[in-house]
Amino acid sequence: MSEYVSPAHRSDKLSLDDLQTLDLATSTLRENRIVGFDNNDIRARPFKLLRTSFAKKMAEVSGCLVGITSATPAAGKSFLSLNLAISLSKVTEDPVFLVDLDLRRASIAEELGISPELGIESYLAGTCQDLAEIGVRINGTNLGVFPAIRRKRNTAELLATEQYSEMIERFRTNTRASAVLFDLPPTFANDDTMISLGKLDGYILVVDSGKTTKRQVLEVMAMLDPTPCLGTILNRYHGGFNDSYGYGYGSSNYGRYYE
Ligand SMILES: Nc1ncnc2c1ncn2[C@@H]1O[C@H](COP(=O)(O)OP(=O)(O)OP(=O)(O)O)[C@@H](O)[C@H]1O
Ligand SMILES: [Mg+2]
Repeated sequence: MSEYVSPAHRSDKLSLDDLQTLDLATSTLRENRIVGFDNNDIRARPFKLLRTSFAKKMAEVSGCLVGITSATPAAGKSFLSLNLAISLSKVTEDPVFLVDLDLRRASIAEELGISPELGIESYLAGTCQDLAEIGVRINGTNLGVFPAIRRKRNTAELLATEQYSEMIERFRTNTRASAVLFDLPPTFANDDTMISLGKLDGYILVVDSGKTTKRQVLEVMAMLDPTPCLGTILNRYHGGFNDSYGYGYGSSNYGRYYE
């Protein structure tokens, strides 16, 4: 089981020091395919390539708030978001944050092996006023994670609130974060992704190798325009530069895999 440790003190600023710390059990890392922490794990290698490509793209758009989406479910968004956030956090002294904004099918808490009482949906609904009560810092790292608790309805309404805009501005200006990743729902599932991305700096599109079609990719890009697409991650692709897990990254060459 993962274990919480409460911080000695809290403050109003959104700083990693104000978050509870979380020790991740080895079994949690193994069972949930959290590979980014271990430099000796060959499966962490593709995430190093991803983080560098990703950092360059963020610099191009002068922004650090990035959503991760796919056309349809189960493409690997949450798995990739978590491991990419871990990998990014290892090359900067500034905080990196991961926010679960897939409010209907939130999964990050489960992947970390925790059952929080509050999630980001409580902050958006105004029932929790303090983001520091929601986030957890992975012990020994500069990664802060804000989980969500699943809710069945009115998620788009929560994302259309002033509270959402205020939260995004807070991450942008008040945290010194080098990157804030948002795990989003599939774009075709509902309008949550379109609404969320309206306030972010860009998105990464996860393409499920052999499943996502070229037409779906083009439709997603049209739906999410004008938010910049920072690139695609070709997940579960076997061939080319990858390992047995199979992921690749590119900004424009995905089309050839579907011809
Ligand atoms: N490249 C991969 N290799 C092995 N397992 C993977 C890979 N990508 C994803 N998975 C596994 O596939 C399952 C679905 O992935 P994940 O939950 O990340 O998808 P998702 O796109 O977030 O789904 P949803 O649309 O439901 O949010 C998870 O068990 C995840 O660990
Ligand atoms: Mg997910």
